[in-house]
Amino acid sequence: MIYIDPPYNTGNDFVYNDSFSNSIENYKVQTNQASSSNPESSGRFHTDWLNMMYPRLLLAKNLLSDDGVVFISIDDHEVVNLENICNEIFGESNRIATICHKSRASISNDKIVSSNHNFIAFYAKNITVIEQNRKLIGVDPVLDNFNYDDNDGKGEYRLVPVDGPGGEKKGNPFYEFLGITNYWRFSKETMTEKYNNGYVVKRGNSLYQKYYKSDAMKTRKTVTTWWDDVGLTSTATTKLKTLMNGPSFDTPKPIELIVRMLKMMTYDDKDSFILDFFSGSATTAHAVMKLNAEDGGNRKFIMIQLPELCNEKSEAYKAGYKNICEIGEERIHLAGEQIKSEWEKEHPSDGLFGSDEQFTTDIGFKVFKLDSTNVNEWDPNMKLDEKELAMRLGEVFKEDRSKEDILYEIMLKYGVFDKQVEEINVNGKTMYRVGKRYMIVCLVNQITSEDVKAIGELSPKTVIFNEAGFNNDNDKINATYNLKQCGVEDIKCI
Ligand SMILES: C[S@@+](CC[C@H](N)C(=O)[O-])C[C@H]1O[C@@H](n2cnc3c(N)ncnc32)[C@H](O)[C@@H]1O
Repeated sequence: MIYIDPPYNTGNDFVYNDSFSNSIENYKVQTNQASSSNPESSGRFHTDWLNMMYPRLLLAKNLLSDDGVVFISIDDHEVVNLENICNEIFGESNRIATICHKSRASISNDKIVSSNHNFIAFYAKNITVIEQNRKLIGVDPVLDNFNYDDNDGKGEYRLVPVDGPGGEKKGNPFYEFLGITNYWRFSKETMTEKYNNGYVVKRGNSLYQKYYKSDAMKTRKTVTTWWDDVGLTSTATTKLKTLMNGPSFDTPKPIELIVRMLKMMTYDDKDSFILDFFSGSATTAHAVMKLNAEDGGNRKFIMIQLPELCNEKSEAYKAGYKNICEIGEERIHLAGEQIKSEWEKEHPSDGLFGSDEQFTTDIGFKVFKLDSTNVNEWDPNMKLDEKELAMRLGEVFKEDRSKEDILYEIMLKYGVFDKQVEEINVNGKTMYRVGKRYMIVCLVNQITSEDVKAIGELSPKTVIFNEAGFNNDNDKINATYNLKQCGVEDIKCI
C-alpha cells in the first residue's frame, strides 16, 4: 500500500526548482535552500506542480504489487488535475473512489464557502485483483473495534455475558442453568443448544457467549466515501506537539486516518509493505507501528522525505531540527516508545495475575540519506602518470565512504534492502552477513585462503568481495573456485 500526502499547491507549500534533470547535484542544491514558493504569477502554476507529481506517480505505480493500492490526499486546488494524471497513469478503470475526509471543524467566515474536507484519490494497480479480494477488503473493520483476545483452536473470540439485560422488564426468561439462576438472553432450549455446541461457556459464577472474530468479519459493512470520524488536522497537530514535547510539524495527518486505510487494505495481509514518499512528520510510520501493536501485525514501512530545510523562524528550527527528515526521524523514535509503554500499561507483567506476554512489535528503523554511488567513477579525461594511475586503480571506493555505505549500496543493488544485516567475525575478520544464508559481504584487505575457507563454511548463496582486497589475480581465481566447490552460487568482486 502507498499513502501520500503531497504538497497541495497552495502557492508556497512545495519545493520546486525549474530544473528537470534531477541529478544528485540538482537535488543537493534544492535541498540546501529553503522551500521556494510556486507563486500564481509564475504562469506555470499547475504545470510546475504536475511536473513534480507525474514522475513520482509513475514510479509509484511501478513499485506497487499486483494487489497494491495507492491513497493520495489532496484538496480542491489540484484534485481535478491529480485525478486526470492518475487516470492516465493507473488507467481510469483502476480508479476505486474519491474519499472525503472531514479534516476541519472550524469555519472560515472570510470565504464564500468554507472548505472543511480533503479528498483522497484511491486507485488500484489492478482493479481485477482488488475485486477478487473484495470480501476481505470492501468492508470496514473499524466498525468492530473489539479485542478478540482468546483463542480456542476454532479461532479468536471474545466473551460476552449471557445475562438478560433489563431482566424481567425486557421480558427475558428466568430459569436455572448450570446451577446459576438468572434472567437470560435466550430461552432454555437455545441456551442448551449453544452450550452443547461450545458457544456458551461457564466462567466462575457466570455464563458467557463466545463471539468469534471470523463471524464478526462476515457482518462488517462496506466502507463508504464519507470519512468524518478519523480525526481532524487540528487535533493531530496538538497530539503531535504533545508527543514531541513542543516543536513539531504544521499539518500532520491524523493517525486514525491512515490506520483506517491500513485496516481496509492489510487486515488479512499483516506482512505488507507500506510506502509514503511525502512522509513529512512520518504519521504513516506511526500508524503502521500502532496497528502492528494492536493486531500483532508485521507490516513494514518505508518513509521518504526530501531534506527540506526548516524555516529559521519556526519552533522546530529553534529546537534544533535542521530539516523535515530530522523531525520525522524523532517522531518515529518517540512514537515507537509511546506505543511500547502504552502496550506495557495494558499488559502489566507484575503480580500474580499479571500477563506474561512480551511486547514483540518491531519499533526499530534505519535511516538512509540519498547520495551518489560509493564506487569511484572512471573519468577518461583524467591526466594521470603511471604512478598515479596505479594508485587510482587500487581505489575502488570513494575516500569519504564508510564500509556500511558500501554494504548498503550492494544490498540496494541486489534488492535485499529488507533483509537483516549482521556484523560477524569470520576467521578473525569483520564481515557482514545479509539474511541467514543469503549473502556474505567481505570488504577486508589481504584476503587469505583461510578467510575464503571460513566464508565457504557459512554456506551463503552469494559472496561479494572488494576486488582490491586480493593480493593478486591468482588468489582471486582460487577463491572463486573454492567457493563454487562449497556450493556458493554467485561470487562477485567490486
Ligand atoms: C503535506 S506534507 C506531508 C505531511 C505528512 N502526511 C504528515 O502527516 O506529516 C507534504 C510534504 O511534501 C514535501 N515536499 C514539498 N515539495 C516537495 C517536492 N518537490 N518533492 C518531494 N517532496 C516535497 C514537504 O517537505 C512535506 O513534508
